[in-house]
Amino acid sequence: MRAKERQEGNMAEVIRPVFHHVTIKTSRLHELVDWYCTVIGAEVNFRDANNAWTTNDEANHRVAFLSVPGLDDDPDKVRHNGMHHSAFEYPSFADLMASYERLKGEGILPAFCLDHGLTISMYYKDPEGNFVELQSDNFGDWKLSTHFMRTSEDFRANPIGTFFDPDKVWQAHMEGQPFSTLQPAVRAGAFVPDVIPDIGLPI
Ligand SMILES: [Fe+2]
Repeated sequence: MRAKERQEGNMAEVIRPVFHHVTIKTSRLHELVDWYCTVIGAEVNFRDANNAWTTNDEANHRVAFLSVPGLDDDPDKVRHNGMHHSAFEYPSFADLMASYERLKGEGILPAFCLDHGLTISMYYKDPEGNFVELQSDNFGDWKLSTHFMRTSEDFRANPIGTFFDPDKVWQAHMEGQPFSTLQPAVRAGAFVPDVIPDIGLPI
């Protein structure tokens, strides 16, 4: 019906805008800016006493920060509605592993790690408890990973993913285990951590 109406000119076509940026309210402006600069390689394009606009690509800003008096932490953030995480994708698993190693050297470790089937994902927690997912696509191709998400019984059975211990997976990667065998092993649970981590949900 919608297509027919569109053909007949009764309904305006949706012109899809491209996702551009997120903006975070914070009472730790400089600490958060420094963290995003370290974790995702953000650079500040503009900053004043209360605000900052940063980007890690050619866009004028991708992550912005508003810091005004009156903001405060949510002591029950985990139980309250709102955004759970933002996500950034590397072109390869090797880049994800190299970044894990770099951040570990900076004393920044993921809060939890999951193989979602379509991505290998490492979730970091910023200084105010916002999660940032760093990921690489398991198929190296959005069309293929989208097809997997839509059609795979494996994904249907386990859409949240399989936890893994990042050190153990990084070690296997450094020892030369190819991604073609490492990823299925991660998905199958060969690297599950001793303690299942908190993923920031009330469960
Ligand atoms: Fe995600």
